[in-house]
Amino acid sequence: MKLKSHINQIIKDAFSKAGIDTEPMSVTEATKAEFGDYQFNGAMALAKKLGKNPRQIAEDIVAHLDLTGVVTKAEIAGPGFINLWINPLWIAEQCQHALGDERLGVNKRETPIKVVVDYSGPNMAKQMHVGHLRSTIIGDTLANLLEFLGDEVIRQNHIGDWGTQFGMLIAYLEEMGEDGSVSLKDLEQFYKDAKGRFDADEDFANKARAYVVKIQSGDTHCLELWQKFIDISLGHCEEVYKKLGVKLTREDVKAESFYNEDLVKVVEDLKRQGTLQESDGAQCVFLEGEEIPVIVQKADGGYLYATTDLAALRYRANVLGAKRISYVVDARQGEHFKQVFRVAKETGFVPEDVKLEHIAFGTMMDKGGKPFKTRDGGTVKLIDLLDEAVVKAKNTIKDQEGYSEEEVEELAKIIGIGAVKYADLSINRESNYIFNWDKMLSFEGNTSLYMQYAYARIQSIFRRFEGEIKGNIIIGDALEHRLSVMLLRFEDILDRAAIDAAPNQITTYLYELVTLFMRFYEQNPILKEGVDEQTKMSRLALADLTAKTIKQGLDILGIEVVDKL
Ligand code: ARG
Repeated sequence: MKLKSHINQIIKDAFSKAGIDTEPMSVTEATKAEFGDYQFNGAMALAKKLGKNPRQIAEDIVAHLDLTGVVTKAEIAGPGFINLWINPLWIAEQCQHALGDERLGVNKRETPIKVVVDYSGPNMAKQMHVGHLRSTIIGDTLANLLEFLGDEVIRQNHIGDWGTQFGMLIAYLEEMGEDGSVSLKDLEQFYKDAKGRFDADEDFANKARAYVVKIQSGDTHCLELWQKFIDISLGHCEEVYKKLGVKLTREDVKAESFYNEDLVKVVEDLKRQGTLQESDGAQCVFLEGEEIPVIVQKADGGYLYATTDLAALRYRANVLGAKRISYVVDARQGEHFKQVFRVAKETGFVPEDVKLEHIAFGTMMDKGGKPFKTRDGGTVKLIDLLDEAVVKAKNTIKDQEGYSEEEVEELAKIIGIGAVKYADLSINRESNYIFNWDKMLSFEGNTSLYMQYAYARIQSIFRRFEGEIKGNIIIGDALEHRLSVMLLRFEDILDRAAIDAAPNQITTYLYELVTLFMRFYEQNPILKEGVDEQTKMSRLALADLTAKTIKQGLDILGIEVVDKL
């Protein structure tokens, strides 16, 4: 249900009846309950244009408002604000409809598009660390969200599997023989050990260098070693994905090496267009207004990160047919994407109508505001962090008696992983973010536990009720009115969050919804004696729709709910 569009339409109709020949600006959610449900603040801006006083304009609009349908009351406030109240009967009807619909009344896009979401992208030579956590979580959420709204989403995991480090790594893997797979469990250590060998032993170093050349020229033995290395390394990433409950699979992997054969063509095509300039032997694209060029081929003939990304852009736009390509990558790569996108557009590699966006995110910090590190200054391994989350979550389960050991374990996973994900998703993604266990595992505040707790609480009402909801939603008081309007805003929120690629808009909404529900539930008892049947049924229905909305919202965020907490 596109609630806002309904209200906007009513304003639009009033405009044309009043003979105001402009497109009205959109209404906004009322900032306070006494201002109604929505506000139209456009009269002030029109005043200059129409040469009239804003209050007069507001009166004119209100005089032509249809107050017999969706909106039943309008009030002018201050210099010309128009406050609007939605018809409670209509709200009730719409909530009823949402409750009967498995999509909760959220429409599927009329014109879905193909979207590539590029996320996670770990480097195979290095351990997956907390820096990859944000990309993985935010990217997966964006993909889930667009999918739910009806777009055709293509997940792409642009893993770093190519480069000179692999010569050293596969030479070492070969040397390790059988033990290779085991040592690779700790990639960080494996890398250090390989580097140790490289620095200490000239023969090994020469072999490693020779292997770089050999992989690049397609030597079967070296490629086999390389493939084995990638398989093991990627396998560890997949363990993390599984723990995190993100949907990336091997089918989504389009590694850097996938574009190897295209790189020559990228450079050739740029050359043919006359876009390339040589600088110190390197092939460069100089963009107008930019001091530093985009290097696409080094003097020694090697290609760069940017070359691969240009090839990937071409592939995504022209072969996959994406109309929106979203890169969920650390903000520190902002300059890279800005330049690569410009080259892709200016050279026609990517058609004009394809939207390219860098979904940037900030750095994860520790409590002291420093980049997140282990006690001895090393990078925190993602898998350790997630395991710790589960251990900590276990301690929050107060009443463990009622559960078997496995159930406690299962519950702890849902709570712990949910907490890590929610904490990340609930802040403005572009901000740096302070990782704080206590805060994220709290039952209070804007946390996943608070949402999961509210959900479980509603389920417990239904366990006690044990019946079937019969009868309709009736908006009984101002609180029920607000709760219902909030429930109907769900699609507007999802739409906006999809446009802005902003998961925190969903968490903010869920937090407001649950807070409102808790107040409603405190003041409006449901199963208490003395509550008449009709009211009870209506409140049960509202509780049910709230629970379903929480569940759907969390599902998009990749977080599970539980029936009991
Ligand atoms: N491997 C890169 C890194 O770890 C991220 C890849 C992002 N995607 C891309 N198409 N460049 O920083």
